[in-house]
Amino acid sequence: MKVSSTLTAQNQHVTIRSFTQEGISEEMLTQILEAARRSPTSSNMQAYSVIVVRNPDVKQELAVLAGNQKHVETCPVFLAFCADLHRLKTVCELHDAEMTNNLETFIISTIDASLVGMSVQTGAESMGLGAVMIGAMRNHPREVAALLGLPQHVYVSFGMCLGWPDRDKIPPQKPRLPADLVIHQEKYDMTIPKSKIEAHNTELAQHYANLGKNLDVAAWSGVIARNLSRPLRPDLQVTLEDMGFNISGVGERA
Ligand SMILES: Cc1cc2nc3c(=O)[nH]c(=O)nc-3n(C[C@H](O)[C@H](O)[C@H](O)COP(=O)(O)O)c2cc1C
Repeated sequence: MKVSSTLTAQNQHVTIRSFTQEGISEEMLTQILEAARRSPTSSNMQAYSVIVVRNPDVKQELAVLAGNQKHVETCPVFLAFCADLHRLKTVCELHDAEMTNNLETFIISTIDASLVGMSVQTGAESMGLGAVMIGAMRNHPREVAALLGLPQHVYVSFGMCLGWPDRDKIPPQKPRLPADLVIHQEKYDMTIPKSKIEAHNTELAQHYANLGKNLDVAAWSGVIARNLSRPLRPDLQVTLEDMGFNISGVGERA
C-alpha cells in the first residue's frame, strides 16, 4: 500500500480544545494559509475571506459570542472563515454589472469558505498544531460581523481556534459511524440497520465514559434526536438575509 503523509495526518485527526501558551509564528501561519489558498473554489470565484485574530480582547469577545467557549479566548490564533460576496459585488461593478444574489451564491461562498477552512485544519494538524472549528460563530452573526468589521454580503460561516495542543489534554479519537453507513456504492442505500446505530451508540458511550462523561440518552442517536427535534438557529436565515445574503430570493440584484 502507498504511504501518504496527508492520509496519515487525516487519520490521526482529533479536535483539540486545550492549548499551551506557545504562540504560532507568522511564518508558520503564512505557510498554512498559503497552502490552504490552493483549495479548489467554485468557478474560480474565491468567494471567501479569512480573518486572522490574535488580539486577546477580540478573542475574548468572540469567546463570549460563541457561548463562552474558553478555547476561543485561550488559543493563540483564531481564524474566522467568511463566506464573502462583497469582493465579487465590487468586481462586478468594475464592469458596470450588478451582482445577482440567491441561494446558489450563498452556497458557493459557504462551500468556498468551508474548503479553505478544512485545508487549514489539515495543514495545521500536519505541522503538529491542534484545531477546533467553531460553528458557534453563527450564534450571533451580526455582533460577530460588527466586531470583525465585516461589510454587507459577508458572514462568518465558522471559526477555528489554532494552537499547540496541551499534551496532557489530547482526547482519544472520537468514534465514527461505520463506513458502510456513510459511503454508498453506486446508489444510495436507504437501509439504516438499527443494530449498527446501537453499536455506534455503545462505542461512543464508552468513549465518553472514558472521559468521565455519562449521558442520559443514547450517545449518538439520542443526542441527534434531542438536538434536531427543535429548529436550529431559527433566526439565522432572516439575519443572513439582512446581512446581504438573499437566500430565499430567485436572483435579485445584490
Ligand atoms: C462546522 C463545524 C463547527 C464546529 N463547531 C464547534 C464549536 O462551536 N465548538 C466546539 O467545541 N466544537 C465544534 N466543532 C467540532 C466538533 O464538535 C467535532 O469535530 C466533532 O465532535 C467530532 O470530533 P473530532 O473532530 O474530535 O473527531 C465543530 C466542527 C465543525 C465541522
